[in-house]
Amino acid sequence: MIDKIKSYNDVKTSVTNCHLCKLCNSRNNAVPGRGSLDAKILFVGEAPGKNEDKWGLPFIGFAGKLLEDALKKSGMERDNVYITNVVKCRPPNNRVPDKNEIDTCLHYLKKEIQIISPTIVCILGATALQSILNLKNMRLYHGKTITHNNIKYFVTYHPAATIYNNDLKELFFKEINLVVDMTKEKL
Ligand code: URA
Repeated sequence: MIDKIKSYNDVKTSVTNCHLCKLCNSRNNAVPGRGSLDAKILFVGEAPGKNEDKWGLPFIGFAGKLLEDALKKSGMERDNVYITNVVKCRPPNNRVPDKNEIDTCLHYLKKEIQIISPTIVCILGATALQSILNLKNMRLYHGKTITHNNIKYFVTYHPAATIYNNDLKELFFKEINLVVDMTKEKL
């Protein structure tokens, strides 16, 4: 079935109709990634929250607004990037997705990366860092670029982690600026 996924619309349809793990029983809507199919940056968060589950769209709540603000400050419009999550359905009460949910869902992210083929994949937070690169320490890896299986990753904090911490918020804005700069054409 996974090999039938060849386009963004295939990903969207498969995610929307997915019943591969137990999260399909509690979700209102599955949340496929969204954004420019020509994006140079693909952002990956953890999993949809309440608003995302209600509307079937990624990062439309407070964390999404922070990401959008940081992008804007760096001269990048949200419409010009692609935004998705490791897990496409909301875990009940916003708990962290479990290993089975992550392992079951990860093939959709792999397809999204293959189809969008961005210059860089920006990992937002600890769950995405652990799920994608099997690395644990955000404090050690944030602000760093890591190449794995020929894909370039940049690691930064999850915007939600910065909401009550101004220092972290400043760092987050700085690192979003860094990753945006990495994708700008050199004259
Ligand atoms: N947090 C995430 O990780 N993803 C969303 O889509 C929204 C909030």
